[in-house]
Amino acid sequence: MGANNLLFMYLICGLLLFILIKTQRRKLAKPTSSLPPGSMGWPYVGETLQLYSQNPNTFFATRQNRYGDIFKSHILGCPCIMLASPEAVRFVLVSKAHLFKPTYPPSKEKLIGPSALFFHQGGYHAKIRKLVQASLSLNVIRNLVPDIEAIAISALKSWSGGQVTKTFWELKKFTFDVAVLSIFGHLEAHYKEMLKENYNILDKGYNSFPTKLPGTLYHNSVLARRRLSLILGEIIKERKEKKFVENDLLGSLLNFKDAEGQNLSQNEIVDNIIGVLFAAQDTTASLLTWILKYIHDDSKLLEAIKIEQKAIYDSNDGGKHPLTWAQTRNMPVTNRAIMESLRMSSIISFTFREAIENVEYKGYLIPKGWKVLPLFRNIHHNPDFFTEPHNFNPSRFEVGLKPNTFLAFGNGSHACPGNEVAKLQMLILIHHLVNNFRWTVVESSNGVEYVPFPVPEQGLPAKFWIDPPPNHNMGGHHTT
Ligand code: HEM
Repeated sequence: MGANNLLFMYLICGLLLFILIKTQRRKLAKPTSSLPPGSMGWPYVGETLQLYSQNPNTFFATRQNRYGDIFKSHILGCPCIMLASPEAVRFVLVSKAHLFKPTYPPSKEKLIGPSALFFHQGGYHAKIRKLVQASLSLNVIRNLVPDIEAIAISALKSWSGGQVTKTFWELKKFTFDVAVLSIFGHLEAHYKEMLKENYNILDKGYNSFPTKLPGTLYHNSVLARRRLSLILGEIIKERKEKKFVENDLLGSLLNFKDAEGQNLSQNEIVDNIIGVLFAAQDTTASLLTWILKYIHDDSKLLEAIKIEQKAIYDSNDGGKHPLTWAQTRNMPVTNRAIMESLRMSSIISFTFREAIENVEYKGYLIPKGWKVLPLFRNIHHNPDFFTEPHNFNPSRFEVGLKPNTFLAFGNGSHACPGNEVAKLQMLILIHHLVNNFRWTVVESSNGVEYVPFPVPEQGLPAKFWIDPPPNHNMGGHHTT
């Protein structure tokens, strides 16, 4: 064999070896695990139509019954893995959180602002989260009690002419005012009005079809978002001129300096302020609406709450002295009613993540790019964790819960940093509601509306009166 032939043989052998190694590698890299059970539905639409043609809770519950705690589906154009076991949810949100990134539709990200913390993970997220957490910590919010009290009393008084009030929509005003307080401290009234007006426009278009067509709800939202940036720019400029260090959220964001002495950009500050407003308002308002419904429908529980709150009221000389922080920390009956309302209503039924690489969990493959949905509501309504889960029963919170089964505020690095301020405002509102007001639900029903959080039908129409109520015809309704 000549030298040329030998070289040729070597080349061929080398090439064959190269191909062999490549294919072997590919074989090795190919995941051995299989996808979880479940149906991917029709081509393109997947199971989207099934999800929207029925109560979403039924959609998820029937699939959990059919396939178990981990199943696949295809909704809204995305292949998804749904998780309904506490361990699987912990895996995604806590122990392997770095493998799953938060994901939101771009149209929504644009309205809130792309730098808002909940769109991020890693270093930037940790940096902003620390600031948000610090400004919502117990040490800071304990000083908000008198101001939240004033906002609660003023809100309750404004509904109390005996007219029919759509409770959820009024509570949104209350939770907006408290969110503004936690973000800005005392903000001048004209700024508050401008923020409210434009934020309401943004809010109206948030869940509408994204389009650039002028006059549409979404386009109006985009314009309102631009105006909000300008208003917040003004507020920031004024705050900087004052050079007064505040420990509210705006203060923390403005005072931040990284290791290189770099401040946050104006966009980062603005996006995070709008992000916190957004995270705070509808969640707390819809939960409060559920509490009012549940305690209205359960006269024994209402009586127990009244007794607890009256004792505090009396110890404050018939409400002559303001509520103290210590008193708000010692309302066990009311607190359990709030916890049970969080579980029962599960207003955040699930959240979204996206796998950033192929991940294996208990022999199942979660493919890169697929959405992953921890199903909080399914866990809250699983009889293995909560006996008779469809019954409203606050006493279940008298004993310890199974680990990772109460997920109303999420879990892990993105868990709600506003949970304590949310509970604080609920406790304060309930304290004044049961001591100084009476209310009756008009046409109490068990219907649910999605706004997109679940709220009682029509936002729970109700009538409120200052206690004792003036003479009026109750029309056969049960008054609390
Ligand atoms: C009843 C009221 C509330 C409920 C049920 C609730 C629930 C939640 C849940 C489940 C998450 C985690 C979402 C996820 O992992 O994808 C979350 C995140 C968040 N919540 Fe709340 N929330 C409430 C009120 C508030 C309030 C009052 C504030 C602020 C004042 C707030 C600020 C936030 C923020 C900033 C995040 C994002 C945290 C991050 O990504 O690191 N929330 N909330």
